[in-house]
Amino acid sequence: MSDAAAPARVRPDGVHPFPHRHLTGIYGLHPHEIAFLLDEAEQWVALNRGAAKKHDDRLAGLTLINAFFENSTRTLLSFEIAGKRLGADVVNMMVAASSVKKGETLIDTAMTLNAMRADMIVIRHDASGAVQLIADKVDCPVLNAGDGRHEHPTQALLDALTIRRRKGRIAGLTVAICGDVLHSRVARSNILALTALGAEVRVVGPPTLLPAAIEQMGVARFTDFDAGLDGADVVMMLRLQRERMEGGFVPSSREYHTLYGLTPERLKRAAPDALVMHPGPMTRGVEIASSVADDLDRSAVTEQVEMGVAVRMACLDVLTRARRGVGGW
Ligand code: NCD
Repeated sequence: MSDAAAPARVRPDGVHPFPHRHLTGIYGLHPHEIAFLLDEAEQWVALNRGAAKKHDDRLAGLTLINAFFENSTRTLLSFEIAGKRLGADVVNMMVAASSVKKGETLIDTAMTLNAMRADMIVIRHDASGAVQLIADKVDCPVLNAGDGRHEHPTQALLDALTIRRRKGRIAGLTVAICGDVLHSRVARSNILALTALGAEVRVVGPPTLLPAAIEQMGVARFTDFDAGLDGADVVMMLRLQRERMEGGFVPSSREYHTLYGLTPERLKRAAPDALVMHPGPMTRGVEIASSVADDLDRSAVTEQVEMGVAVRMACLDVLTRARRGVGGW
């Protein structure tokens, strides 16, 4: 598809559909800007299902650097695939093999990436706020691939796209986000995106794993799993993020599964056609039973991964339009 055939870059009323330089979070985005990114992603879903995957080279000549200071499977691979499918040169910087291990500061690393004239930088970091710090220092668009427990905006976008395609809408749906909400950037970005798009969001988990005052984000709080699941249209399960826990937040994995694990029996509490989601990686037998995770009628887990590529293609495209002189702002 050529740029000429692509959807309009600027709305007929002259309003820029996405007037942001970076994608550091869902916070601060207008609902129509979120919907715009989802609409843009739709075009890539069908094309990604075709035999020839590289159908567009709108990012040819641009360099995408994926700088991952934390482990990743899905997010890193899908940003890499997204960049390549649009013709970009993609370089992955893995921290285990970088000068960060020699004590280089984050700012120095950012300045190094900048000096190499990257056109897009995707960052994952274990410190909340690290991505914004880098975004403030470099000359190109920066995309947040997850910073600490703060935000993971492309995950929320791919989750929203998955829900919208499966349910036909987001507004008015009841979405239960269950498990380790406290340590989850996925939960935070999803709460922001789904409430902005009109869903009723519940957070469900043990009191130790629900942030204090979470209700201020416009969600309902449940510590009783069955009550939180009652009639839910979407059940989004989260992993216990033990790498971010200091001390014992749950007695044991077995007890956690008994109280907060999604089993087929438990799922009966939700709406009869409830969609089960998980950002991955799943810990089978802890927050989710294998029989639920693998139930293709209910589980959208692999579709979420598929939507991740389309959403990241859309984000890379939209954020580089100014550099490419297409509908710039
Ligand atoms: C999540 C993350 O890294 O925040 N995974 C992902 O991006 N698919 C959730 C998690 O690690 O549990």
